[in-house]
This record gives sequence, C-alpha cells and structure tokens, in this order.
Amino acid sequence: MTGQCVWFEGIPFPSMGFPSEHLREVQENFIIKDEDVLLLTYPKSGTNWLIETVCLIHSKGDPKWIQSVPIGERAPWAEAFRGYNLLKDKEGPRFITSHLPVQLFPRSFFKSKAKMIYLIRNPRDVLVSGYFFWRSAKLVKKPQSLEQYFEWFIQGNVVFGSWFDHTRGWMSMRDKENFLILRYEEMKWDTRSTVEKICQFLGKKLEPEELDSVLRNSSFQAMKENNMSNSSLLKGRYLEKNGELLRKGVTGDWKNYFTVAQAETFDKLFQEKMADLPQDLFPWK
Ligand code: A3P
Repeated sequence: MTGQCVWFEGIPFPSMGFPSEHLREVQENFIIKDEDVLLLTYPKSGTNWLIETVCLIHSKGDPKWIQSVPIGERAPWAEAFRGYNLLKDKEGPRFITSHLPVQLFPRSFFKSKAKMIYLIRNPRDVLVSGYFFWRSAKLVKKPQSLEQYFEWFIQGNVVFGSWFDHTRGWMSMRDKENFLILRYEEMKWDTRSTVEKICQFLGKKLEPEELDSVLRNSSFQAMKENNMSNSSLLKGRYLEKNGELLRKGVTGDWKNYFTVAQAETFDKLFQEKMADLPQDLFPWK
C-alpha cells in the first residue's frame, strides 16, 4: 500500500492532500484551544460514527445540522490540507478529527485542556474494514487480496502506520482527565450508555427525547441514508463507484474472512505487542 504514499517522520500518508510541509505545519503551529473537542481514531475504527454522534449531541438531537453540512466540514480532519484550512480561522469551539499518531499530533494540544475522545476497535475488524475500503479508494495502492492486505497491516505498511503503535501511543494518555477512551464494540452493544458517557465527558445534558433522537439519527441505517455522512460526496475524486464507507457496521466480521492460520498469527502478534496493557481496554476478547 505504501508504494504511492507520502512519508512523514516514518509514517505513510495518502498521496493526495497530505504534503509533508503541511504535516510539519500542523504539528508545530496548529493551535489547539481549550474549548476544542478532538475526535481521534486509527482509520476504520468508526470515526464517522463518532463524529455523527458528537454533532448530534451538540445539536441536542436536532438532525438539521448533520443533514445539511458535510461531515468533513462539521469536524474537519486536522492533518488534511483542506480540513486544516477550514479549522485554522474558525471562531469558537471546534470539533477536530484526526488519525494522527500521538508523536505527530499538534504540540499545542499537550499544553491545552481540550477534550479528546479516542475510539478504538478490534484491529481484526479494522483490518477487514480497511481492506474493503482501500481497495475501492483512489488515494493509495489498492490491495489485490485480503491475504496481501493482512501482511501489509501486520507489518504496519498501511496509511497512518501500525495499528499497534498508534493504539499504544495514544493509550499513554489514558489517565488524563481530558482524555476519554471509547470502544466501537461497546458503542455497538450499548449505544445509549456510550452516548451518555460522551455527554458526561463533554458536560452536556440531554432530555430523554433528545437522547432518543441522537440514537435514531446516528444509527447505521440513518447514516447510510444521509448524503452528508455516507460516502456519496467522496465518490469520483476519492472513491470508486462501488466504494462504501458504511459497509456492514458490525462487530466480529473478521471471523468471516480470516483463515485459521491468520487468526493464530494475529493472536500471537497481539499478545506480543499489547500484553502489558490492561486487558479490559480490549473488550472484544
Ligand atoms: P465496516 O467496514 O466494518 O462496516 P471509519 O469511519 O473510521 O472509516 O470506520 C468505518 C467503519 O465504521 C465501517 O465499518 C462502517 O460501517 C462503520 N460505521 C460507520 N457508521 C456506523 C454506525 N452508525 N454504526 C455502526 N458502524 C458504523
């Protein structure tokens, strides 16, 4: 995959929209404000679902905003050239999305009180989701088979680098009070509790009917039907016609694709890389 990438500080980025001088500018000069809310993920972990949920919490369940403004303008990507330009001069509190690994994140964040939500997902499902997405994307070298993508993924030869390094890097922030870790699996199994957790973290109070509306309008089906949030705006320039951001939206889909040997290889690697972290961080076991 990394054949067509831009490299910055040892991390591969998609070849379009992420010039290295821009990534340096983001790291060194982007000022994160205390009132900003940062939405951080490794790609394919449910980023867009998190954005939709947070936007709906902000509008108290009113879907007008999410149905009229593209998702990438509501919570622009800091590291993307276009997203950065939208964010730079924006007044007031901002929602900022990013896939950056911790070592490349804007330095100003680490001195700020900005709240950050880091969403993680079973890396096996991240891998499968990534395979289907990147093979229909125009931004990177397309994987020819799941077998090939499996190798790229476990070696960290994928955009934004190794899942293991990304996750370990951000986990080092987990005891900070302005840092909330969420898991895709918990969000899926008990969406209401996750939304309540986000509200508490952001200091937002929703009436029961507002909360119901957040849940209704951020569901997989509602997002799939919302042209501001599904991938229809990406088609043509960034995605092939058959590309889908909202593919299945389930947990454990990797079991339909991994061979027994791949599952064993992955388990072994996960053990090697993550065994020293508290295992309750990873609820999919
Ligand atoms: P699948 O490919 O497994 O279906 P990201 O936004 O980080 O690119 O992640 C995309 C993944 O999140 C896709 O996973 C997508 O279906 C899933 N997703 C997006 N919105 C969702 C929702 N409302 N509910 C459940 N999963 C969702």
